[in-house]
Amino acid sequence: MNLCVLASGRGSNLKAIINARKSGNISSRVVLVVSNNSASGALLTAKKNHIPSIHLSAKLFVDQSSFDKEFLSLLKKFKIDLIVLAGYMKMISPAVTGKYKNRIINIHPALLPAFGGKGMYGMNVHEAVIKAKVRITGATVHYVDDVYDNGTIILQKEVKVKPGDDAETLGKRVLRTEHKLYPEAIKLLEENKVTLRSNKVYIKQSK
Ligand code: GAR
Repeated sequence: MNLCVLASGRGSNLKAIINARKSGNISSRVVLVVSNNSASGALLTAKKNHIPSIHLSAKLFVDQSSFDKEFLSLLKKFKIDLIVLAGYMKMISPAVTGKYKNRIINIHPALLPAFGGKGMYGMNVHEAVIKAKVRITGATVHYVDDVYDNGTIILQKEVKVKPGDDAETLGKRVLRTEHKLYPEAIKLLEENKVTLRSNKVYIKQSK
């Protein structure tokens, strides 16, 4: 599959996906990186790996529909099969979710539906987890629809909250899990092992 990764910040999940391809763990290839942030680590990583990349922000367009038009034409030009959100802090508009139904995925640093929704991103999530004094958190890969953190869940992995953890130590541990979980989900998708029926995901187990 040809992947378009959308990222706003550091871009460590993008790196994990590029490395998974390099080490042969996935066969999908990142062919385009898009960021709304011109100073993002993700754009730098793309350049270092000679992957076409673009700073694309709705702010640079007269309206959302011109932005969507440009984004959709890029997706077509690069023959994108799957849009992968990796720390992308913007909503994907219905013009794109409509055209790429069940072909957009996101990673969230908690066990959705817990600690999801508007305002729940990055460190905010880990701070909320610590504050709630829960013992288990984790990471979730899910399909993206028009509601924040709402799409059907593909894969989840638990991470223990250790006594003495703060948001930072916990966040680092969850991130290590994300770096394994995201390539794992991409592998399941590229091998056609994920079936979506009546908003439920069924995963074909390997023999
Ligand atoms: C990751 O922890 C990702 O799960 C989170 O942002 C971080 C991006 O890190 N995404 C969200 O919170 C989305 N709601 P990265 O830029 O190093 O991949």
